Amino acid sequence: TPLVVHTVAEYRAIREQWFREGLTVGFVPTMGALHEGHLSLAHLARAKCDRVVSSIFVNPAQFSPTEDLNQYPRTLPEDLALLSSASTDVAFVPSVSEIYPAGITLNVSEQVGTFVEVRGKSHQMEGAIRPHFFRGVATVVTKLLNVTQPTHAFFGQKDGQQCAVLRSMVRDLLVPTELVVGATVREPDGLAMSSRNRYLTPGDRSAAPVLYAALEAAQHAFNAGTKDRRSLLDIANGVIAKQPGVELQYLSLANAFSLNEEEVVGPDGAILSGALLVGKTRIIDNVLLGLS
Ligand code: PAJ
Repeated sequence: TPLVVHTVAEYRAIREQWFREGLTVGFVPTMGALHEGHLSLAHLARAKCDRVVSSIFVNPAQFSPTEDLNQYPRTLPEDLALLSSASTDVAFVPSVSEIYPAGITLNVSEQVGTFVEVRGKSHQMEGAIRPHFFRGVATVVTKLLNVTQPTHAFFGQKDGQQCAVLRSMVRDLLVPTELVVGATVREPDGLAMSSRNRYLTPGDRSAAPVLYAALEAAQHAFNAGTKDRRSLLDIANGVIAKQPGVELQYLSLANAFSLNEEEVVGPDGAILSGALLVGKTRIIDNVLLGLS
């Protein structure tokens, strides 16, 4: 089982030793409720790095006052067993006050202190529906990188915009960590694994795979030569329209690097992404077009 570390000070002593030994350190940040998607990142880190540290921290700053912070699943004993199965060395499990010494309120207008904003990539797609989400993510990932001081940090393509935001952040703030993106891990029927999937009722669960089915249909058309926005979005929209019990929040066809919406998929490739309300649960997914 991993060594469970609750404080920054305790982790720093461990990291100091790893520096002395000249070891590479892979970091896998999570909010817990771990599943095979998280574990695939832990396995990537294990294969690439001498030491692996994973964090489990439900970050208040990335939740709006109307979102599911208090309901978010907290399953620490199971999470530690799973990290153990993936040979993780250290589980960093801080309290909120350890990460936000000045406190943190969900209401952004009441917040004081220091926050990280990645302007240009945080306002569209997920950011249009969750306006302060990426500010919360960029802020906590900055803090967690400053604590864990990894040589490599691992993120999932499942959250494609998060990867793009964090790539920009690491570049802009000269963070000395290499980001590695792992492929999306899916259920057998295509549904991307997510901690929030446990909110799905049986009826919701049977409807939820339609999001990936829609993205996949457009991806097949792209691979067969369809490159224009209208046709690709029509194909995806058409698949979703046939599924009762779901509400599409958005579909986006954007440049995978700038996250600007595209009329035609160019040589840079694109990210086709969407969000769907299935009952009360929000699910997101994406596929890359013309990129590996
Ligand atoms: P969380 O949703 O717990 O996800 C932690 C990491 O696992 C993220 O990099 C996410 O992209 C990845 N992940 C989740 N589901 C995946 C799947 N099905 N396949 C592959 N990777 C998957 O993302 C967050 O937490 C938070 O925003 C965090 C980065 C920890 C900051 O609080």
